[in-house]
Amino acid sequence: MSKQMKRIFGIDLGTTYSSIACVDEYGKPIVIPNAENQRVTPSVVFFDGDNIVVGDVAKESSKLYPNDVVSFIKRSMGEPNYLFEHNGKNYRPEEISGFIIRKIVQDAELNLGISGTKDVVITCPAYFGINEREATRRAGEIAGYNVRQIINEPTAAAIAFGSMEAEEEQVVLVYDLGGGTFDITMIDIKPNASIEVICTGGDHNLGGKDWDDRIVAYLVQEFQKTTGSKEDILEDPDTCQDLQLSAEKAKKILTQRDQTPVLVTHAGERVKITLERKAFEIITQDLLERTISLTHEMLEEAGKKGYEYFDEIILVGGSTRMPQVSDRIQNEFSMSPKIFDPDESVAKGAAIYGWKLFLRDEIKEKVAQKTGKDVKELSELSEVELDEVLHEVEHLVADDTGYSVSDIRRSNLRILNVTSKSFGVVAHDSDDKEIVFNLIRKNTNVPVTVTQSFGTAVNNQEIVSIQIMENESSETIAQPDMAVLIGTAVLKLPSDLKKGTPVEITFRLNEEGCLEITAEETSETRRSVNAAIETRSVIQGEELEQAKSRSGKTKVS
Ligand SMILES: Nc1ncnc2c1ncn2[C@@H]1O[C@H](COP(=O)(O)OP(=O)(O)OP(=O)(O)O)[C@@H](O)[C@H]1O
Ligand SMILES: [Mg+2]
Repeated sequence: MSKQMKRIFGIDLGTTYSSIACVDEYGKPIVIPNAENQRVTPSVVFFDGDNIVVGDVAKESSKLYPNDVVSFIKRSMGEPNYLFEHNGKNYRPEEISGFIIRKIVQDAELNLGISGTKDVVITCPAYFGINEREATRRAGEIAGYNVRQIINEPTAAAIAFGSMEAEEEQVVLVYDLGGGTFDITMIDIKPNASIEVICTGGDHNLGGKDWDDRIVAYLVQEFQKTTGSKEDILEDPDTCQDLQLSAEKAKKILTQRDQTPVLVTHAGERVKITLERKAFEIITQDLLERTISLTHEMLEEAGKKGYEYFDEIILVGGSTRMPQVSDRIQNEFSMSPKIFDPDESVAKGAAIYGWKLFLRDEIKEKVAQKTGKDVKELSELSEVELDEVLHEVEHLVADDTGYSVSDIRRSNLRILNVTSKSFGVVAHDSDDKEIVFNLIRKNTNVPVTVTQSFGTAVNNQEIVSIQIMENESSETIAQPDMAVLIGTAVLKLPSDLKKGTPVEITFRLNEEGCLEITAEETSETRRSVNAAIETRSVIQGEELEQAKSRSGKTKVS
């Protein structure tokens, strides 16, 4: 097998645009253009009969076939009730995102003249909860790939920044304003050694699309003023799609110019509206302010962890191209932000991470060969045993892959993460009022394991149903109406327990943000209790298998 085939792609699966990168033979991350020769692919899916079309053609088709086109699917990831129906078939968000992944991987392979991609690293907003993350992983699996890791978008941007720009240790704020989400993250970068997330915040429903929507509302209002009509022209799906596209184009032009004409056509009437940058900034000012206040909230949390200062603000995400973003940040923090490769740094960072995983794999494989062990048994080697072979192995991997020994030595990048959400269970307080008791609080370092003891309610209780709640509160006690139910763990108890027997529930959150629950009853026998999480929010079981097989049979272009 050629080494090229073993390459691990980094995928930035965006709300509005997606991109894919890999590390080239010189150890440099490169973005790979799609078949239309664009470096970013619109995350838009057009159901064209039995075929699926993704990208620019799909985006343009939304004007003519608004009911056959799906946009902004990332905003629905992990939503239990989202189904897109087409030709009598139902599609979940994971499957639709899977089509986007298929398209960009396929095009990348074509461009590089390779085939047989297996492994990918996919990014998601730091602010994604458990179900959204799991759904992202499933999207990659449905597309037919082995998802090596889901990493956070700001972490990926920091990896790219850390390996391409930063030379010494620094604490950076990554301000990521994309098409659909806003993430603000404080990261401690130790170049080539570790990337440590200190604190994260944001809003996964705040992005460029909201700026577009404000322009759309403005255009509707101006259209009504000019024509004297009171009609809500957005009820016409064609007009609505057309205005969305025009609004985004106008917004991008205003990044360069002070004003732009926009043509609004509806039911045979054409009105030319001039949109000035000043007006645009005024109608969207509260959105920008929200990013600033979310930044302050995050900084306050970071302060509690002892991080009072940061060295640099890095802007990523296409929406940070709007000049008002840098101006506002400069004004607020008296520091000029660095615009760092806003459209590509996330995919590049994911690719660098994937490349390091690939080099690690090669090292492990060779160490296993040299020591006569199985790859899974390598942790049993003592440091001395490992040192004996490592030097030789590094050179062998260098010869084999063509990368330098120093690249190979630096492949062990540690990523330290925090959880962006709190996780708890529904319980009752002393007044018997329902509350959420948080076992894991947001911005805690992961992996983390927390055990809490709860008493059984009656004699011989057979079942405890634990409602697992995700929320934004930094406190131990949160209000149920501010939390979302992400799943239920049903504990089957041995039938002989007395009322009040403590049952210990353990939440374990891993590096990638996957939650595992185990339980143990603590009577003399101390039996472990079965605790499977049930959720409807993520595709699984039979439905997942069907989606995989259906995806494999569908042509995507
Ligand atoms: N020159 C520009 N001026 C203003 N906005 C721009 C410009 N170029 C791109 N954008 C906006 O940036 C957004 C896309 O950015 P990006 O590709 O980083 O987001 P995404 O990855 O799709 O979304 P997310 O990261 O939120 O999931 C879109 O809303 C797009 O309109
Ligand atoms: Mg993005």
